[in-house]
Amino acid sequence: MCMAEPSLVHRMTKRCWYLAVVAAVLTSAAAVPLRVDAETGAEAWLRYSALGPQAAKSYDRLPARTVALGDSAVVRTAQQELTRGVAQMLGRTLSAGAGSPSENSVILGTLAELHSLTPTLNPPQELRADGYWLKSSRVRGFDCLVVTASTDRGVLYGVFALLSKIARAESIAALAEVQQPYAPIRWVNQWDNLNGRIERGYGGPSIFFADGRVRDDLSRAGQYARLLASIGINGCTINNVNADLGILDDAMITQTRRIADAFRPWGVQLALSVDLSSPKAIDGLDTFDPLDPRVAEWWRKKVDEIYRQIPDFGGFVVKADSEGRLGPSTYGRNHADAANVIARALKPHGGVVFYRAFVYNHHLDWHDLKNDRAKAAFDNFHPLDGAFDDNAIVQIKNGPIDFQVREPVSPLFGGLRRTNEAIELQITQEYTGQQKHLCFLVPMWKEVLDFDMHLDGNTTPVKHLVAGRVSHRPTGGFVGVANVGMDTNWMGSPLAMANLYGFGRLAWDPGLSAETIVDEWTRLTFGSDPLAVQTINAMQLSSWHVYESYTGPLGAGTLTNITGNHYDPGPESSEENGWGQWHRADRAGIGMDRTVATGTAFVGQYPPAVQKLYEAMAECPDNMLLFFHHVPYTYALHSGKTVVQHVYDSHYEGAEHAADFVAEWKPLEGHIDEERYRDTLARLQYQAGEAVVWRDAICNWIYRLSGVPDAKGRVGRGPRQ
Ligand code: GCU
Repeated sequence: MCMAEPSLVHRMTKRCWYLAVVAAVLTSAAAVPLRVDAETGAEAWLRYSALGPQAAKSYDRLPARTVALGDSAVVRTAQQELTRGVAQMLGRTLSAGAGSPSENSVILGTLAELHSLTPTLNPPQELRADGYWLKSSRVRGFDCLVVTASTDRGVLYGVFALLSKIARAESIAALAEVQQPYAPIRWVNQWDNLNGRIERGYGGPSIFFADGRVRDDLSRAGQYARLLASIGINGCTINNVNADLGILDDAMITQTRRIADAFRPWGVQLALSVDLSSPKAIDGLDTFDPLDPRVAEWWRKKVDEIYRQIPDFGGFVVKADSEGRLGPSTYGRNHADAANVIARALKPHGGVVFYRAFVYNHHLDWHDLKNDRAKAAFDNFHPLDGAFDDNAIVQIKNGPIDFQVREPVSPLFGGLRRTNEAIELQITQEYTGQQKHLCFLVPMWKEVLDFDMHLDGNTTPVKHLVAGRVSHRPTGGFVGVANVGMDTNWMGSPLAMANLYGFGRLAWDPGLSAETIVDEWTRLTFGSDPLAVQTINAMQLSSWHVYESYTGPLGAGTLTNITGNHYDPGPESSEENGWGQWHRADRAGIGMDRTVATGTAFVGQYPPAVQKLYEAMAECPDNMLLFFHHVPYTYALHSGKTVVQHVYDSHYEGAEHAADFVAEWKPLEGHIDEERYRDTLARLQYQAGEAVVWRDAICNWIYRLSGVPDAKGRVGRGPRQ
């Protein structure tokens, strides 16, 4: 999205530039005294730091030999990873073997292979695909530690789990643990362009592409796959959803094959984003009508060619009829027609198509108070329920708008009963501070995943729906937009990596608490110094609310610069354009009336029990009020405060909390490595300055509109414009 920025934004960005320069100076100062063994963040949560002698001693009984069963490349990777991790953490060299154990060993292999060795050793429950079992057991007369799974990928996941336990000094004596993935789909999307730039990427250029080609050196792609595998992610779409037509050129397929080769040892399937108009645009057919047999034939041949080169290819992601992309509407066809023509080409090979529900009209008439972009996904896809093939998955953003700091869950999760779903979460912080602000998103994602849709009066949290647990759809799960780049620490900010880690852990087990996830991540990433763990955990866990409080409280929606960088404050940019991210603030009040009674009727897209939560102003939770209702500035919240006073207070408190982060971080000097200490300090100082910019911009804006001064005398001393 790019349009001229309003004047307020210009004034704001001047100040941001100043802060950016200060931060850049601080950051580069932090980068100067790098030692040879400097902590770069490249290893992320897989640092495998040496344990102290005392801690290492408790792993003395870990067998000195690994035995790999079968001839799977992924199991070999698992064996090598275990050897590497144990060498680094415990200073011990494991010997590697295959076949039957001849001494106490760590046995690595699928259940089928294990049974050829010891037919009666069985996990206490059936293992789903990629689930694993860690079991201490006597095998052929030796004390063994068995890492087994129904798939070779599961064996690799089991090894990563074992190494994570050691890194966090957890006991591995007498292991008997089954871990199962919650859903089969656990994918990331990268929005990389073939020219090497990444749409909404804040960690440097693409690790896959440069100058219109696949990079010669793909070592980062392999390292990325290792990181992904360590948190159970099994697929990666490597290019922008706004797909370059060139991605399906035969020459490009030959190149992307090299990326698939880099992923394969880690059990990560490669997938591509494709443009629906490809048959016409690339190969000169006179149509891309999904119901035209020539188009179906084109997709079939193209897909056959891809599988010839990449036998474990995962499938496609499609963005159509959205934000200027061509789609089935060109021929009066629907989204199921479009998804199915591609799904049928993929089906014989076992591939899937993710069809994005992010379909809306970005030329909506803003004068019409009944218009509402939030309704678009449900309106477009609910009528098509049951029309999608069983290897098509409708990929739905968590909220009905677009990755804002707070949105209600998309009603479409409850609107498809006979269609595969996947939830799309945004790991890259497009609207949540672009990795310059600390914003740990796991608490937000958990609220979404745990949200009960009350379908048919039953308990039906969103996580059940996307995993196909309710209507027993064949597949479904989780997709995260990651956008890592060539920056050594992947996402630009060491602390932002907690979001990638957290996404993977939640996709594996959405029942994990945010506290557990962040504690694992901090210990793996920074070590177990108690002050460091306590401080970093607490900062991460509070950071989403802090960011929300100085950017967009009460569910107001986009107060950021929506027509420009999606980062600076720019509340005026939301209104009076067709993008539809309106907050409807005027002199009388603020918020979108989305009620059935008087508004856009978006609320009516939810099941009845959820409608009850939002329809009546008096019932609506404060943190969603402005998403669902247009209220006077002096409307009293459940908290007793008026809306406008809440906005003032929240922004002042938020800015203070952002400043507190700096004070909380400083005592960590000497408790963690100097590089990441200084890098993060500079970022937090910058964030504290930016929070003040946000505070003043939003408070002054709402004061100018409302004319209501701040009861605490901080805002409103200047003239109302
Ligand atoms: C957002 C984002 C775009 C992206 C789009 C999408 O609007 O700003 O860059 O293309 O989402 O998810 O398709």
